[in-house]
Amino acid sequence: MPKITREHWSGKLGFVLAAAGSAIGLGNIWKFPYITGMNGGGAFVLVYLGCILLFGLPLMLCEITIGRKTLKNPYGAFKALQLKRSRTADLIGLFLMFGAVFLSGSGHYGFAALLFGAALLFVWLGFAAVGLLSLITAMLILSYYAVVGAWIVDYVYRAFTGGLHFTQVAEAAQVFGNYLDREPGRIAIELIIFMTLTAGMIIFGIRKGIERCSKILMPLLFILLIAVIIRGVTLPGAGAGIGFFLYPDFSKLSVGGVLEALGHAFYSLSLGMGITITYGSYLSKNENIFSTSLWIVALDTLAALLGGLAIFPAVFAMQLSPDAGPGLIFNVLPATFYRIPGQLGWLWAGAFFLMMTIAALTSAAALLESGVTFIMDQFKVRRVPAVIGTYIGITLLGFLTCYSTNHWRNLPGIDNFVQNVFNVRTGSWFDLLDKLTSNWILPLTGLFTVIFAGWIWGARKAGRELRRGSQGICDENIVELISGFHKDPHYMNSPSSGLTVITLWGILIRYVAPVIILFIFLQVIAK
Ligand code: TRP
Repeated sequence: MPKITREHWSGKLGFVLAAAGSAIGLGNIWKFPYITGMNGGGAFVLVYLGCILLFGLPLMLCEITIGRKTLKNPYGAFKALQLKRSRTADLIGLFLMFGAVFLSGSGHYGFAALLFGAALLFVWLGFAAVGLLSLITAMLILSYYAVVGAWIVDYVYRAFTGGLHFTQVAEAAQVFGNYLDREPGRIAIELIIFMTLTAGMIIFGIRKGIERCSKILMPLLFILLIAVIIRGVTLPGAGAGIGFFLYPDFSKLSVGGVLEALGHAFYSLSLGMGITITYGSYLSKNENIFSTSLWIVALDTLAALLGGLAIFPAVFAMQLSPDAGPGLIFNVLPATFYRIPGQLGWLWAGAFFLMMTIAALTSAAALLESGVTFIMDQFKVRRVPAVIGTYIGITLLGFLTCYSTNHWRNLPGIDNFVQNVFNVRTGSWFDLLDKLTSNWILPLTGLFTVIFAGWIWGARKAGRELRRGSQGICDENIVELISGFHKDPHYMNSPSSGLTVITLWGILIRYVAPVIILFIFLQVIAK
């Protein structure tokens, strides 16, 4: 058996762009702008920034550190770091079993069975269950994320071939609805195209594949985004859109909005799914984890803000009103772009959907890569067969979504099964996957990851890995920094064991983040 040596990113830029590529996705462009507009604009942005810095960044540091310490996929990484069978894992198993009983009491047998399975995994594997759970989640997410990618590919094609000439939102909505409902075969072909592009990005490996593609695609994404923004904000009447997006209206900010900001912070940074552990496992030992994470977070937030500026000014200037989720992108925007005077609507729509394609592709590549890394590590398979196998598996799973995006009725047998077993009366396979993964599994795996880093592996040991390459920032004394005594020779001589950046991180991951994440989770359950 030939020895498979582990690759590394070529340097900081490659890693930052690839990780930013995973983070910047559909969430930034179609979800963030809209929830911002609904929750008090600028006021929500401030809360969101707070969430990113207090919870998103610390969790990202944990994940990259876990990956780089072990040089393994999420499952292998958790397994390697848990020294002995942990009682805490058994307790979590017990807690999940209670959840399963509770759910079966309310008729959600399917969810109860899933939760019960997760509980058994914990009792059996300890914290390695977290790694396994996040990998499964990543694959499920990819199977529907790629279908959205397929729709976007379709809209790029339509834009450039003159197929998006709608002046009314209703017209666009009808076309989109028919497409989802009646053309599953077409979507399936586009899914294959999208998945092939995704697999093509990673088949050549970390450096020659993901990294090289990200270095071209990420700058292109920002250029396209800025071009669309310039067109939008220079239209007469664009100010109203900027107002909707950014005017800080604290009266519209509710507790629900704050929790939404928290949940979205994790989703947007691609945390809780083992992706960042996987990417971190290819990071070299002398890289500064702290400053790279700051860069990733900054680029992700920038993309979210630019996304809003690319959408709302144009929508308001064309006298349309914004919509939520898919409707905003596939119905409102085509009508908006087509209405822009000057006959160049196709160009703006094309640029926008191309930009979305890039955002979706780089995220999909990250998801696929986590499955591929797992297979390569655990079964000692080479990259090419691992990529091909995962690619085929996910594409097949994706077909299920293609045939049931609008309604279960396209899958008659499964329809009854799901209705009875999961007790889900509305929605589709697509909705089920989306809800299950982003509302349930994500906060849970995030919670277990911080608990693991803070208590099981332990903040002290995790901190030792984190400090390699970033000692300067980690040992910065926050009290001196904030109070203006930074670099004061008097304080420099005193033993500085006060609140430093790394001890603050320890406090956040041990106490603050677990409590807050549990809180989001309870909120989701209560809904
Ligand atoms: N962060 C992505 C977005 O904003 C979505 C996402 C969540 C994701 N988890 C992920 C992407 C894991 C890739 C990998 O749209």
